[in-house]
Amino acid sequence: MSDYLVGKTALVTAAGQGIGRASALAYKRAGANVIATDINGEALQTLAVEGISTRLLDVRDEAAVRGAVAEIGAVDILFNCAGVVHGGTVLDVKDEELAFAWDLNVRSMLRTVRAVLPGMLARGGGAIVNMSSVASSVKGVPNRFAYSVTKAAVIGLTKSIAADYVGQNIRCNAICPGTVESPSLQERMRASGDYEAARAAFIARQPMGRIGAPEEIADLAVYLSGATYTTGQAYVIDGGWTG
Ligand SMILES: NC(=O)c1ccc[n+]([C@@H]2O[C@H](COP(=O)([O-])OP(=O)(O)OC[C@H]3O[C@@H](n4cnc5c(N)ncnc54)[C@H](O)[C@@H]3O)[C@@H](O)[C@H]2O)c1
Repeated sequence: MSDYLVGKTALVTAAGQGIGRASALAYKRAGANVIATDINGEALQTLAVEGISTRLLDVRDEAAVRGAVAEIGAVDILFNCAGVVHGGTVLDVKDEELAFAWDLNVRSMLRTVRAVLPGMLARGGGAIVNMSSVASSVKGVPNRFAYSVTKAAVIGLTKSIAADYVGQNIRCNAICPGTVESPSLQERMRASGDYEAARAAFIARQPMGRIGAPEEIADLAVYLSGATYTTGQAYVIDGGWTG
C-alpha cells in the first residue's frame, strides 16, 4: 500500500503512543503527508525522526484545534484517535470522570470535525476515521461504564456525519478494536495489582489467544481512509472476541 494515500494530508490525534503512533507511521508508509499530534511532546519526538510533521495539540482545547487546522491548511484525512479509559460500573463512576470521558472521547471529535469538515467540503471530499471500541454499543464489557457510553456515542456521531455528507464525497467510519497492546493498557494491567493475572484475563477473552498489535489497527485506519465505497460503518477488529 505504499502509494495508497499519496497526495493526501492526514491529521492524526493522540499520535504519541499506542494505536495513534502506529497509525501515523502507517499513514506515512502509505504515502500520505502526515501531521501527528498529541499533548505529549516527548513522545511526538520519536515520530519527528521518521520524517513525520509533529505538533502539540490538546483536542480538549477548541481554540487550539481551530488554530492548528488553520495553520495546517488542507486536511484530506482526519483520524480521531484520542480517548481515555475509565474503569467502574454505573454505580462506581464519578460525574467528573464521565464528564472527562465525554469531553475527550466524544466532544474532541466534534471539535476536530468542525475544524476540518468545511475545508474538506470546499475541496470536494475527505475521509474521517473515528476511534470507538467493541466496548460500546457493540458489546457490554464489565467495569467500563463511562468508556462504553462514550464509545457508543462515537458510533452514533460517525453514522450521523456519514449520513449528512455522503452526497458530498465525505466518508466517515469508526473503528472498534478489542484489546490492543499499548502503554495505557500496560498501565491498566499494572494498576490491577496483579499484572500477570490481568494480562492472562485479557488474553483469555480473545479467541485468537493474544492481544492485538497497534499496527493491526493502524492498517485498518489506513484502509478506511482510502476505501471509496464505505461510509457510516463501525468496523470491529477484535481478534474474534465478538465473532
Ligand atoms: N488499547 C486498547 O486496548 C484499545 C482498545 C479499543 C480502543 N482503544 C482506543 O484507541 C485509542 C488509543 O488508545 P491506545 O491504548 O492505543 O493509546 P494510549 O491510551 O496508550 O495513548 C493515548 C495517547 O493519547 C494522548 N492524549 C491524551 N489526552 C490527549 C488530549 N487531550 N489531546 C491529545 N492527545 C491526548 C496521550 O498523550 C497518549 O499519547 C483511544 O481512543 C482508545 O480508547 C484502545
